[in-house]
Amino acid sequence: MHALVVVAHPKPESFTHHIAASLTRGIKAANPADTFEIADLFAESFDPRFNAADHAVHDRIGPVPEDIAAEQARIDRADALVLVYPIYWWSMPGLLKGWIDRVFANGWAYDYNPDTGLVKKLRHLDVHLVGIGGGDEGTYERHGYFNAMKTQIDHGIFDYCGARVVTSRFLLATQLQDPAAHLDAAFAIGRGLFNQSSDGKAGKGSSDLAMVAAMSDH
Ligand SMILES: Cc1cc2nc3c(=O)[nH]c(=O)nc-3n(C[C@H](O)[C@H](O)[C@H](O)COP(=O)(O)O)c2cc1C
Repeated sequence: MHALVVVAHPKPESFTHHIAASLTRGIKAANPADTFEIADLFAESFDPRFNAADHAVHDRIGPVPEDIAAEQARIDRADALVLVYPIYWWSMPGLLKGWIDRVFANGWAYDYNPDTGLVKKLRHLDVHLVGIGGGDEGTYERHGYFNAMKTQIDHGIFDYCGARVVTSRFLLATQLQDPAAHLDAAFAIGRGLFNQSSDGKAGKGSSDLAMVAAMSDH
């Protein structure tokens, strides 16, 4: 099995990158034969600006730009897509949002035209979301940020394309909490990535994933 782990943070020494590394260690710990690729969008200088060529793709009148075809190909090679990102303004960073805007294009992620309606094209894809935030759980609860983010990202983006959000996890209060707990949680997500039963429930012995599965119920 193969995972594409997309990371959107400019600093390699950031907590976000440490979380991604811990998650990939979990993948290897579960099964050394499983593989992963890290898509470090900042290091790779991915251009997140939705441009005129992207618009032509959206309107089904132009070819898919080369950089976008390459991103789609690496998702096509993966059994699981993992997004690891710092939460900025109660959402994902602009770099990652631009990656979604451009890569999850009409014709590849979904097919929409007014005559036939919507065809979801990513039904085969399992998605794992790990958002890392400085705010605490109470703040997220009080203001409805958990639901807002899940509605917009889990449902609005991935469900729209038919992809299954298996993990939807927030690692919060990063400046206050013991980082080891979050690193352990990321390791557990990686270890359970390909260890899900067909009904989406966590594999045996993975209590962390049971919680994750419950959180992704939307
Ligand atoms: C521009 C910006 C916006 C942020 N907005 C939020 C936010 O809306 N909610 C939150 O919980 N944390 C927010 N934070 C805090 C970051 O999510 C947090 O510092 C980061 O995830 C810590 O990990 P890092 O070392 O990988 O940056 C923000 C940070 C920055 C730089």
